[in-house]
Amino acid sequence: MSVRIAVFGLGYLGATHALCMAELGHHVIGIDVDSTKVGMLQSGELPFYEPGLGEVLERNLAAGRLRFTTSYSEAADFAQAHFLAVGTPQRSDGLAADLSHLDALIESLAPLLTKPAVIFGKSTVPVGTAKRLANRARELAPAGEAVELAWNPEFLREGFAVQDTLRPERLVLGVDRGRPGRAEEVAREVFAPLLNVGVPLLVTGLETSELVKVAANAFLATKISFINAMAEVCDRTAADVSVLAEAIGYDPRIGREFLRAGIGFGGGCLPKDIRAFRARADELGVGSISAILTVADDINTRSRTRAVDITQEVCGSLPGARIAILGAAFKPDSDDVRDSPALDVANQLQLGGADVVVHDPMGMDNARVRFPDLGYATSIGSACEGADAVLVLTEWAEFRKLLPHDLDTVVRRKVLVDGRNCLDPNPWREAGWTYRGFGRPQFSVSESCSRAELVETASSVAP
Ligand code: UGA
Repeated sequence: MSVRIAVFGLGYLGATHALCMAELGHHVIGIDVDSTKVGMLQSGELPFYEPGLGEVLERNLAAGRLRFTTSYSEAADFAQAHFLAVGTPQRSDGLAADLSHLDALIESLAPLLTKPAVIFGKSTVPVGTAKRLANRARELAPAGEAVELAWNPEFLREGFAVQDTLRPERLVLGVDRGRPGRAEEVAREVFAPLLNVGVPLLVTGLETSELVKVAANAFLATKISFINAMAEVCDRTAADVSVLAEAIGYDPRIGREFLRAGIGFGGGCLPKDIRAFRARADELGVGSISAILTVADDINTRSRTRAVDITQEVCGSLPGARIAILGAAFKPDSDDVRDSPALDVANQLQLGGADVVVHDPMGMDNARVRFPDLGYATSIGSACEGADAVLVLTEWAEFRKLLPHDLDTVVRRKVLVDGRNCLDPNPWREAGWTYRGFGRPQFSVSESCSRAELVETASSVAP
C-alpha cells in the first residue's frame, strides 16, 4: 500500500531516503530550505554524486511519485509520515552535535500538523533528543496528542546508499513505550516491501534507537583506529598489518570489514558522531566510552600526520618538493570531501612548503571550494607530472589499478606513498620504486608466501 511521505532535508541522507521511498512505490515530497537543491532535484539532477541514485531519481520523477518543494505547509498537508533527515553537524564551539536544524524543523513543522501524523526522526542525535522533540511537537501541533514521534536511524554508507536503503541489513524503530500509538503500524506500511523479503525490524524504545546508531558508528571508528594502532606496532616490528588484518578477520567474532589500515576515517559522519557521543557520555558521567573515543580520535588524527611524516622522510624536505595527491574524497565512489583525510594531508603538506597537486575522479569541485589554494589536475598523469612523490590517499578503483609503467616516465622520482594500503608493493619495488605503506614492511619481504600459507591454514582448519 502506498503511503504519502514527506522527507525534510535533502542532503545525502534525506535525498537518498526520499528517492528510495518513491522507488518502493510511495508518493513522496522532498523538502529543503535550499531552493537551488530543490530546483536541481525537481529537474532530475542530483546535487551530489552517488552511484545508481540518478536513475532512481529519473525513474520516480517520470512515474509521478516524487516531487520537491521548499514549502513546509505543502508537505504538512500532503503527508501521513514525516521523515526528518536534516544534518546534525559538530557545534562550532565544542564537540557536541549542533541540533539547531532539527529544533528549527520541529518549530516550523509541528504548528502545521492539523491532522494525525507520525514523525520519524532519521538524523543521528544525542540520546534523549527524540523524547524532547516528541514533547515539543505535541505541544506545538494543533492535532496535539495525535502527532507521534518515533526514531528510525539510518545506516547507509555513501557509495552504497541505494543498496543500503533498498536492502538494509536491519531496520530499527524507536517508539515511545509510554505512549503506544500508530508509529509501528505506519513504519510497517512504509517498509513493507523490505519486511516482505525478510529485512529484520527491531522495535525499541526511543533511547535505544538513538544509541544504536551512535554505538554503530563509534564501534566502526574504534575498529579502524584499532587497526591503525596495530599498524603503528607493525611499523616498529617489520610485521605487515594487511596480512595481520586478513588473519584475524577470519575469526567471525572479529570479521574482515573495517580493518583497512591507512590514513583513517573522515567524512560527514564518523568523526563528528564520535565527538558528539564523547560530549554526551561526559554529560551522562560515563567516562569509559568517552575515554575509548578520545583515543580512537587521537589515533585517527595521528594516522593523517603519519602520512605527512612519511612523505617528508621520503622527500628529504617538503619545501621545493612536488607532491602528487591521488584522492580528495573521504572515500571512493563519493564526491564528499567533508573532513577528508586526503585533503587534510594535502593541506598539511602544502603548509609544510610542498608544491601539492591533487586529482580525484569526482571530488575536485567540492575540494576546490574547501581548499582553493591547493593545486588541482584533471588527470592522474598531469597530477603526477614531475612529482617527487605520489601519494594514493583515496582508494578509487582507477588508482588501485595503477601499475609502475603508468607513471615511470611521468614522475621525477619513483616514490609511492600508499595511504590506503591498496596497492601491491611488489611490482612497484621490482620496477625500482620506493613504496611506503602503513604498517607494511619498508623493504621487500616475501609476504605473498605467508599470505598463501595463511589461506591454506585457514581453509584446512575450517569446519
Ligand atoms: C558511515 C557508516 O559506515 C554508515 O553505516 C552510517 O550510516 C554513516 O556513516 C552515517 O552515519 O550516515 P560513511 O560515512 O559513508 O558511513 O563511510 P564509511 O564507509 O563508514 O567510511 C568512513 C571512513 O572510514 C572513510 O574515510 C573510509 O576511508 C574510512 N575507513 C573505512 C578506513 O579508514 N578503514 C576501513 O577499514 C574502513
